[in-house]
Amino acid sequence: MKIFIDSADIDEIKQACEWGIIDGATTNPSLIKKAVDKRGGNITMEEYIKEILKVVPGPVSLEVIAVRSKEMIKQAKLLYEKFSPYGEVVIKIPVNPSLGNDNLDFDGLKAIRQISREGIPVNCTLVMTPEQAILAAKAGAAYVSPFAGRIDDYIRAKMGMKIGVDFKKGDYFDYELLCRIRELKLNEALMKFNSASEAYRSLHIEEILNKSQDNGIISGVDLVAKIVKIFRNYGYKTQVIASSIRNARQVREVAEVGTHIATLPFNVLKGMIKHYKTLEGMRNFMADVVPQYEEIFKE
Ligand code: E4P
Repeated sequence: MKIFIDSADIDEIKQACEWGIIDGATTNPSLIKKAVDKRGGNITMEEYIKEILKVVPGPVSLEVIAVRSKEMIKQAKLLYEKFSPYGEVVIKIPVNPSLGNDNLDFDGLKAIRQISREGIPVNCTLVMTPEQAILAAKAGAAYVSPFAGRIDDYIRAKMGMKIGVDFKKGDYFDYELLCRIRELKLNEALMKFNSASEAYRSLHIEEILNKSQDNGIISGVDLVAKIVKIFRNYGYKTQVIASSIRNARQVREVAEVGTHIATLPFNVLKGMIKHYKTLEGMRNFMADVVPQYEEIFKE
């Protein structure tokens, strides 16, 4: 599995690259804005992006901001031409750029098709279903980015849980626990029915079942797993970038289901290296070092 850093903060990117485990980076307009603001705004976004490209030893995704295919294609070419001399540019295109009632649902795919045909690699972003991922792959995207964390947030919200109240952004999505909660609610509701057919047809039961998933997707990791499986079934070349990753355990799970790439925020990368017993082990080894052992290292 390749690891990308999901950040536009040059200090974070440099540090992670020094650890020797970074294969690429993903940015978005919000991440770049945050990073440039941190610099006190005393650098242009263009210069800042060039800096990122020079540091990262692999593909860097840069996002377009248009919503119509024609403009997206124009922006993609501009980004590619402007920044390719400084590193490996990949263009991020949303799978569906529609903002509602604008007939733009398929403009992302049209742009992906055209840009990819011209040899510019595309990372199709904001992918929330395997169906969208299939369309993006068919259109020629080099990468698709399913947003695992945001699907987990969505399912928890459907179940009535509030971010910042019932769970924090980085909390592990505990599917087993959610299943148990769902079972309790189901049992309680089923008690009210006299026959199986009555219960089977009940809208209330259906509602309980639907609330704990998103149209058959039971978690963000499940979304990634399903896309990986479908791409394997048909030998698609498109690579899956597990995105919107919130914690180290989720990294393990997307790796288990065979994602090609995981793009990780800096704090998630830092979380991956820690374990209480490793720290304890280090402290114990160090406490046991005797002067004779230290002698070995004297030059
Ligand atoms: C990466 O390409 C995405 O922009 C990013 O992973 C989104 O993460 P978030 O859901 O934590 O904002």
